[in-house]
Amino acid sequence: MYKAIIRPTMYRAWGGDPETMHHWMMDRLAFISRFQALLKIIEVANAYKAPGLEREVFGVRFPNPVGLAGGFDKNGVALPALAALGFGFIEAGTVTRHKQPGNEKPRIFRITEDDALINRMGFPNEGADAISERLAKEPTPSIPIGWSIGKSKITPQDEAIDDYLYSLRKLYPYANFFTINVSSPNTPGLRQLQDKEPLDRLLQAVVQESESIATKSGVNAKPVLVKIAPDLSEEQINDVIEVCLSRRVRGIIATNTTLTRNGLSRDIGEAGGLSGRPLRARALEVVSYLCKRLDGAIPVIGVGGIASPDDARRMFDAGASLIQIYTSFIYEGPGIMKRINKQIL
Ligand SMILES: Cc1cc2nc3c(=O)[nH]c(=O)nc-3n(C[C@H](O)[C@H](O)[C@H](O)COP(=O)(O)O)c2cc1C
Repeated sequence: MYKAIIRPTMYRAWGGDPETMHHWMMDRLAFISRFQALLKIIEVANAYKAPGLEREVFGVRFPNPVGLAGGFDKNGVALPALAALGFGFIEAGTVTRHKQPGNEKPRIFRITEDDALINRMGFPNEGADAISERLAKEPTPSIPIGWSIGKSKITPQDEAIDDYLYSLRKLYPYANFFTINVSSPNTPGLRQLQDKEPLDRLLQAVVQESESIATKSGVNAKPVLVKIAPDLSEEQINDVIEVCLSRRVRGIIATNTTLTRNGLSRDIGEAGGLSGRPLRARALEVVSYLCKRLDGAIPVIGVGGIASPDDARRMFDAGASLIQIYTSFIYEGPGIMKRINKQIL
C-alpha cells in the first residue's frame, strides 16, 4: 500500500518537493507524538517486538537493532511517533550550538530510479538551547535516543571543539548516547575534523566532558560515538580507529553520505551527499574493514543503502552490531523495519 498509493500521492503533492513533503510529515508525526492512545495504535500496527531482537551495545539496551539514521528528525520533535513506527533507536539531530537555517533551497533531490537521494541540507536546526528547553518539558521516549552533534556554520574552525562541547552539555540529560558528526559533506571544513590530529583533540575533549558531567551528576558516562564518511582511505580509517581506541570512544557509525557519484544511473548535476542504493556497496566495505580491524574492541553501527532484509543481513554478517536506515525509510515506508526484524529473528 505504501509503494502503490501513499508514496506516489506524496511525491505528486507540493509540486513534488521532497523537503516540503518531509516537513508536512514531520508536523503530523510531531502532533501524533502528543497523544498516548494514537501512539499505542501506531505501535500495535507497526512495531515488531520479540525478546530475540533485543541487544545490549555499548551499555545501552535496544529493543531491536534497526535504528533511524541521523538527519531525519533534526530537532527531535517527533521521537515518540517514530519510536511507535518500530525503530529500535533514533539518532536525532544533527544539532549545532547555534540555530541555523542551513543551505539555500532546494537542497534535497530524489533519484527515484536508483532509490537514491542527494542532499546538501547543511544542518538546519533550532540550536542546542531551544532544543534542550523543549525536551525538558517532554516525556522520555520509549527507545534509546542518540543525539548527533555537529559544528555551527558560523563557528570558526579553531573554535569547533567549544561548539561541540556546548551542545553536549545542553543535550546531556536527554541522550542515551552521543554521535560526533565529523562526516557530513555540507558544512565547510567539517570533514577536516576527521584528520588524525583535529579528531584526537576533539574526541579527547568530548569524551572527557561526558565523563566529567557523569561524575558530577553521579551517573554512568553517556557513550560517545563517531560517525565517519565513506570517502575515507584505508589509511584515514586506520587513523580514526587509533584515535577512537585511545580516546575511549564507544563505537563508530559508518557511513554518512558520499561525495562520489558511483552507482548512479545518471548524474543529476546537483552538489551534496549521495545516499541510498548507490552507497550500499561502499558502506558495507567500510563496515567490513572497520569490524576486521577493530576485532570486537568497540562496536560498529552500519548505515548506507540498507533497503531490504538481505542488505541488513550482509551488514550484520560483516560485523555490525546495530544498523540504521534513512533513504529506504522514504522509498520503502515504515514496513521496512518490520521486514528486517522478522528476518533477523
Ligand atoms: C536528507 C538527508 C539529511 C541527512 N542529514 C544528516 C545529518 O544531519 N546528520 C548525519 O549524521 N547524517 C545525515 N544524513 C545521512 C544519513 O544519516 C545516513 O548516514 C546516509 O543517508 C546513509 O544512509 P541511507 O543510505 O540509509 O540513507 C542525512 C541524509 C539525508 C538523505
